[in-house]
Parts: sequence; structure tokens; C-alpha cells
Amino acid sequence: MAAKAARSRPALKPVLILNGPNLNMLGKRQPEIYGHETLADVEKACRAEGLRLGLPVEFAQSNHEGVLVDLIQAAREKNAGIIINAGAYTHTSVALLDALNAAERPTVEVHLSNIYKRERFRHHSYISPAAIGVIAGLGTQGYLLALQALARLLVR
Ligand code: DQA
Repeated sequence: MAAKAARSRPALKPVLILNGPNLNMLGKRQPEIYGHETLADVEKACRAEGLRLGLPVEFAQSNHEGVLVDLIQAAREKNAGIIINAGAYTHTSVALLDALNAAERPTVEVHLSNIYKRERFRHHSYISPAAIGVIAGLGTQGYLLALQALARLLVR
């Protein structure tokens, strides 16, 4: 019994999938850009993919920059990695960049739309320097690809 316990690996901490402002409006918001799936649909698909990959998932959304900073700070202890779609804060927030750098967790930045095909102000991301990779333009599939990338790093 003791030998078995010594051999078992510690449980993997969940990956935090964090969504910023207006992503709670998915499905209703500009469906020609963001598609018809809701954020609840995205969460369901991520939980299923997490189960398949052996990667526990925590899912959160906030419209408030400070709440996002708090969740990223907590991720330093609570989470094995971060997937973040920071919405419009991507293009404005040094605070999110600082929080991600302080969290020191492997991070994948996701955007539903191809931000490089859109207005110029969307071409710059403040948070990309803190990410191991960026996925943009593949719709909700981007979240699942980000989970696959983190699984390769985290699941042994
Ligand atoms: C977005 C792109 C951002 O420019 C925009 O402000 C969003 C969503 C995306 O997922 O494509 O809110 O991050």
C-alpha cells in the first residue's frame, strides 16, 4: 500500500482558461466575426478536451481588468498553465502583461478572430511577450489547440 502511494504522481493542477471583456457575449456578439457558439459551449468543449488529454480545466470570464489580474496572480499557486483570451485588454493592458510575467506559468494566448486581418489597433498585443505561443483566427478550435499544446508540456 505504502509503495503504491509512493509511486503515484501528485495530481496535476488545473489549467486556467481565462476570458476577458465581452467574451460573455459570445454567440450574440458580432457572430460574423466571433461565430454562433456561446462561452458555455466553449467551456463544455474545453472540459471534454481536458478530460481526453488528462488535463483538469478551470474556466473563468470577467469584464474587469483587476479581476483578471487577481485570477492570474492566484494562478501562480493554483494552476499548472494559463490559456488567455484577454479580449480588448490584449491591446491595452500592461497590467495583464505584468501579472502573466509574475505568474510564471506556461501561457497560450488565444483569439477567436485573426486580429492581424482586422483594424490596426488590434495588431499589437501587450501580452504576447508573456506567452509561449499565440493562436488567432481559428475560432473556438483555438482553445482546444491551446489545451493540446499545454498537455504536451504538462502531462507525463
Ligand atoms: C478577441 C480579439 C480582440 O481584438 C477583441 O477585442 C475581442 C476578442 C478575439 O477573440 O478575437 O474582444 O480577443
